[in-house]
Amino acid sequence: MSDQPEKTFTLTNDQTGESVKLPVQEGTMGPATIDVRKLYAQTGHFTLDPSFTATGSCKSRITYIDGEKGVLMHRGYSIEDLTENSSALEVAYLLLNGELPTKEQMEEFDHNITYHTMVNEQLHNFFNGFRRDAHPMAIMVAVVAALAAFYHDSLDIWDPKQREISAHRLIAKIPTIAAMTYKYSQGQPFVYPRNDLGYAENFLHMCFSLPAEEYKVSPVLADAMDRIMILHADHEQNASTSTVRIAGSSQANPFACIAAGIASLWGPAHGGANQSVLEMLEEIGTKERIPEFLEKAKDKNDPFRLMGFGHRVYKNHDPRASVLKKSCHDVLAELGVNDPTLELAMELEKIALSDPYFVDRKLFPNVDFYSGIILRAMGFPTEMFTVLFAVSRTVGWISQWTEMIEEPALRIGRPRQLYTGATERDYVAIDKR
Ligand code: SDX
Repeated sequence: MSDQPEKTFTLTNDQTGESVKLPVQEGTMGPATIDVRKLYAQTGHFTLDPSFTATGSCKSRITYIDGEKGVLMHRGYSIEDLTENSSALEVAYLLLNGELPTKEQMEEFDHNITYHTMVNEQLHNFFNGFRRDAHPMAIMVAVVAALAAFYHDSLDIWDPKQREISAHRLIAKIPTIAAMTYKYSQGQPFVYPRNDLGYAENFLHMCFSLPAEEYKVSPVLADAMDRIMILHADHEQNASTSTVRIAGSSQANPFACIAAGIASLWGPAHGGANQSVLEMLEEIGTKERIPEFLEKAKDKNDPFRLMGFGHRVYKNHDPRASVLKKSCHDVLAELGVNDPTLELAMELEKIALSDPYFVDRKLFPNVDFYSGIILRAMGFPTEMFTVLFAVSRTVGWISQWTEMIEEPALRIGRPRQLYTGATERDYVAIDKR
């Protein structure tokens, strides 16, 4: 124990003059926290923070974000460093285990993931119940949850080996299920994973190869996909990760928890934004219409928001958007694609970032603003964009879930409320109402 005096905050009730001392908990980086676990017992009051703008839900060692500086780090490594030097599978190892792997550790991890990429053949039957035009996220939620029906040997969350095999199965099989979801929507046959291909390459092969001809994955696309997977891997306690944690706190199995995360990610305010950005850009259509849409975005009576702009935490640039913006140019140039949508997006960004409404509210492009343009250039339809986000974020979700389960004395998450409903009253028979 340090011999430093404990840091505390004193909270005083101005009506009664009573005060309580609340301990301060400090981390290695970022804001310190006031530990309010004993607040109700000491004051009879709850805290109230409806969308958790100032509430820490857990301690975590996985990801650090400094929203003011536009910093994103995983286990101490900057996102710029990782996208430049690492790979999606190595980042998965890092997020899960806390350290970059040795060569031997990486070979073993790569082998474990590779040899879990196939799904039980019975799982193919789940797809036939869906219409071909079902939203792929609806299929993903259902089929990923169904994985729990196949792996009775790895549902004991208290067994470290079973936790590890479940994590490997999810990281390995969710790309396969995502590719199957895409093939199903295209009316094309499922493509089996191949053990001779890399993680991102295998995923693209399962998405785009056809039985009618040999398909070679473009190294440019494989590299872009791998980078997109790194950029979307984890992001602290965002809505879908918090969903996974709260589901996991009830001791639900990891497959059910990840399915819950997929459901939460689907919303257009969260992972669904990458699809909404493309739909918005297509609706804007030309540079001349940008001012009209910026006015709509500012109009409080208009539900329209500038999709791909703004972030709960980043009040500076989202570092992922900067990396993706550069990738956009590289990928489109390499593919010889001249997508007017990219020009429109850049013009929209330029105009918005000179508009006081956006500047004053620190609304910068976020990770979703450019990702869709690359994904479309790679051949994916907009409905698949959030599925691709879910494929990448599975690594973060299962790492955060593992960290939570490994915490000593796991407790179920159970927030309280401020009750504003009717006070007690007697039942009135229907003929007397
Ligand atoms: C992701 O949390 C994460 O880490 C998420 C994520 C991850 O990796 O997991 O980073 C991924 O979800 C990125 C965000 C993708 N969503 C979008 O691009 C949808 C558009 N963005 C907005 O819906 C919004 O910015 C949010 C949801 C991202 C953030 O919402 P907040 O923090 O609740 O912000 P807010 O609604 O309180 O907005 C503050 C002000 C408001 O205006 P005032 O009331 O102060 O006048 O900014 C305005 C808002 O009206 N505003 C916008 C806007 N975003 C906020 N106005 C127009 N267009 C926008 N996009």
